[in-house]
Amino acid sequence: MNIILFGPPGSGKGTQAKRLVAERGWVQLSTGDMLRAARAAGTELGQRVSAIIDAGELVSDEIVIELIRERLPEAEAAGGAIFDGFPRTVAQAEALDTLLQERGSAVDTVVELKVVDEEIVQRLVKRAEDEGRADDTEEVIRNRLKVYYDQTAPLIPFFSAQGKLKEVDGMGSMDGVAAAIAAALDDK
Ligand code: C5P
Ligand code: MG
Repeated sequence: MNIILFGPPGSGKGTQAKRLVAERGWVQLSTGDMLRAARAAGTELGQRVSAIIDAGELVSDEIVIELIRERLPEAEAAGGAIFDGFPRTVAQAEALDTLLQERGSAVDTVVELKVVDEEIVQRLVKRAEDEGRADDTEEVIRNRLKVYYDQTAPLIPFFSAQGKLKEVDGMGSMDGVAAAIAAALDDK
């Protein structure tokens, strides 16, 4: 099973991915988490992407595609991958399709978590207080939203044309959203 959790920053992708890991034993593949881990470990990659993350811009397609590629066998062994925050561009989505095709699989479902902008900014400002992420300042949040609408939202018609897109209302409680995601996945 290969699931993409799609939506703007702060739409609950990471939260819901962790629930799917706990409930179904699948593997969460969050390129954002991988990049932050590389930075925290002080690797060469981490140093290269640090300023890009802090500005809320996207790192190159090649870098994130390679991070995902390395983790596919592990997800396959677990019976499922939950792509969280990847793909962020049409080129990344096309590369993912190719990588999975080479392994005899495919993206099964894309769950789009729908959350209005005002709620996103509120959630991310709160997350900054709780987790202290450097890219959760109001200025960077606004740029991340702009980057989402410019570079990532074009994936919506891309996934829709593939017949894979399922919209889920992301404004409810965590349990309510989890139930709606489960319904979207099990309805296949
Ligand atoms: O997914 P998340 O919001 O945690 O990503 C945090 C940051 O990591 C993004 O704002 C971006 O700078 C970087 N990122 C990226 N390309 C991806 C995923 C994350 O550049 N595919
Ligand atoms: Mg996340």
